Amino acid sequence: MENGLKHNDNIVNYGIITSVRGSIVDVEFENNLPSIYSVLHTGKDNQIVIEVLTQLGSQRIRGIALNPTQGLARGMRVETTGKELTVPVGKNIMGRMFDVFGNSIDHLEPVSNVEQRNIHQPPPPLGTRSTKSECFETGIKAIDVLVPLERGGKAGLFGGAGVGKTVLLTEMIHNMVGHNKGISMFCGIGERCREGQELYEEMKKQMC
Ligand SMILES: Nc1ncnc2c1ncn2[C@@H]1O[C@H](COP(=O)(O)OP(=O)(O)OP(=O)(O)O)[C@@H](O)[C@H]1O
Ligand SMILES: [Mg+2]
Repeated sequence: MENGLKHNDNIVNYGIITSVRGSIVDVEFENNLPSIYSVLHTGKDNQIVIEVLTQLGSQRIRGIALNPTQGLARGMRVETTGKELTVPVGKNIMGRMFDVFGNSIDHLEPVSNVEQRNIHQPPPPLGTRSTKSECFETGIKAIDVLVPLERGGKAGLFGGAGVGKTVLLTEMIHNMVGHNKGISMFCGIGERCREGQELYEEMKKQMC
């Protein structure tokens, strides 16, 4: 490596932003390119967080900004952290709300006794996965009869605005907890974070 330095993620390194397109940010480094999935900080108070997604050649990386990029411009300084994003996991996070960085955002006490785990994890090994196909009962007859879901599978719900997607999801979450003693997790992206808040308030009301 240049200057005889070994690539070391623990050394703070600085780069310069070369392009900003929406949330996609390119950063140039003279040496010690940060590794993929590592986190960079930039912005006025270092409040903008960028996750490295690709290395474009030996001096440039392309990353995605995880918060709004207003005010971000070419030529701004970027600082490496050498760390990757982690989130709290475990029983103590149940019923709580977090942002993408794992910080609690429900104005309650900070979560304690939790393990911090990297957001990038390998999939479970094939040997531990179920090989049989089972129906996952949602308790909603129209779904269970006409379009049954597979246990352990994935399903998408598409529809026009205001046709009842959220109501259906809420009903499924309700049944999951009530009938199956299961766990549901809601992730909102962008503007849809608002729905997480609404769901949280709704669930809290029902619990009281
Ligand atoms: N099964 C239903 N029976 C009667 N009314 C319903 C039903 N499902 C939804 N609605 C009504 O439709 C309204 C919109 O539903 P919902 O918010 O679930 O739509 P959405 O598809 O999530 O909309 P958006 O695309 O805006 O997120 C609800 O406020 C509710 O009043
Ligand atoms: Mg909706």
